[in-house]
Parts: sequence; structure tokens; C-alpha cells
Amino acid sequence: MKNLPLHVGIIMDGNGRWAKKRIQPRAFGHKAGMNRMISLAEYAQKTGIKYLTLYVLSTENLSRPKEELDGLFGLFRKYFTANVKKLYAQNARIKIIGDKSALPEDIQKLLVDSETNSPEGADFTLIFAINYGGRPEIINAVNRAIERGEKVDEKGFTSLLYTDGIPDPDLIIRTGGELRLSNFLTYQAAYAELYFTDVLFPDFTEAEFDRAIENYSKRERRFGKI
Ligand code: IPE
Ligand code: IPE
Ligand code: MG
Repeated sequence: MKNLPLHVGIIMDGNGRWAKKRIQPRAFGHKAGMNRMISLAEYAQKTGIKYLTLYVLSTENLSRPKEELDGLFGLFRKYFTANVKKLYAQNARIKIIGDKSALPEDIQKLLVDSETNSPEGADFTLIFAINYGGRPEIINAVNRAIERGEKVDEKGFTSLLYTDGIPDPDLIIRTGGELRLSNFLTYQAAYAELYFTDVLFPDFTEAEFDRAIENYSKRERRFGKI
């Protein structure tokens, strides 16, 4: 396809409402969401996209009830462990953005290992945003700059963000009908194209993903020029 985005971000929202519609607990929706997430990660690589960032958990989400968080961590542990090797075999590397330190210790280890064991020369980067917030990321970068005692320009500042080395997102998709970014890639999204859909994340199929990409491919990005 012409005008394929290099980097796509997905705000995977709507799991809870998807479950509620089926008179099921929220965890049922999160499980369906995890299945969708893995499937889309594999699919995105096949389409030729080079970077996919998945918003798994925001810093704000950490204040959800313990029961829901435990359920989410349990699912993540299971799905992540079950699929990491498969992703490597497809020549995908994994990167984590966010503050790992507040996560359960075994998950921290899982995440760190998944990054270090990633294949060299991978042609696809799968980025999981976990306990991620755009504002804390910016503040963290500012503090690192202050510690260095040096003023920064855009290039220098970018290298202090979690996303160091990753190009800015070209397209950000949000499922679940809300028209906001909820602290996702706040700095990096400055010139991203946005695509919002009412489809709840567990229903966000490969065909829906294609629809978003096709919509993006028809847009004219001017970057302030005429
Ligand atoms: C998104 O689905 C997944 C996470 C934020 C972890 P939600 O859990 O926010 O689902 P809704 O928005 O309540 O439907
Ligand atoms: C955004 O969804 C975070 C993730 C999808 C991980 P939320 O459901 O937490 O966002 P708000 O509360 O509607 O802004
Ligand atoms: Mg939500």
C-alpha cells in the first residue's frame, strides 16, 4: 500500500464495556482484548508497518481496584510469556515504555528479559506501553536533562524519552469511542494523525485495522507547509 505509516500506536480501549454488553465481568473483556492484541501485533508486522506501540496500561490505570489490576497482570503474564518466542521467531524485537518499577517484580523481570533477548537486526519493533504516562515521561526527561546540567534541543530531549531511537507515531488509533489521548505519547504525538473508532477493542479485527490504515493513507500531511 502507498503511504503506509512507519509507526502506529493503538489506545486499546473498550474492554470493560465489551464485557458489560455480554453481562460478563470486566476481566472477560480484558482476556478478549489480550487475544486481539497478540493477533494484531502479528498482523501489523505482515502489513509492513515497522513500529507498533500498544497502550496496555496507563499510569492512571494503576489506581483501578486491586482485583482488576491483579487480573490484568495475570493475563499479561500469561499472554506475554506464551507469545514472546513466536514474536522473536518472526524477527520482531520488543521494547517497553513506561515506569516498570511500580509493577509486580516477576513482570518487571519478564519485561526486561523480553527486551534484552530480542533478536538483533529485527525488522519490526513491538512497543508495549505499560504503566506509561506521557507527562511522567516528559518530567523524567526534564529531570535527566537537569542532572546533566545541559540545555537540550529537540533532538537531545527526544533522546531522554522512553522512546529514544523510535520514530514519532504517524498514526494513533483509539478504539472504544472516546475522543482523547489519555496521556498516550504526549510529546511524540505532536504531528500524529488521529483515528477514532467506536469499535470496542475486542471487536477491533484485522479488517478494522486495515480500515484505519487505509484512512490514514489518503490523508495529506502538510506539517505546516502549503
Ligand atoms: C482498556 O479497556 C484496557 C485498559 C485500560 C487496561 P477499559 O478497561 O478501559 O475498558 P472500558 O473503557 O471500561 O470499556
Ligand atoms: C486509556 O484507556 C488507557 C489504555 C487503553 C491502556 P482508559 O480507559 O484508561 O482512558 P480514560 O480513563 O477513558 O481516559
Ligand atoms: Mg477505558
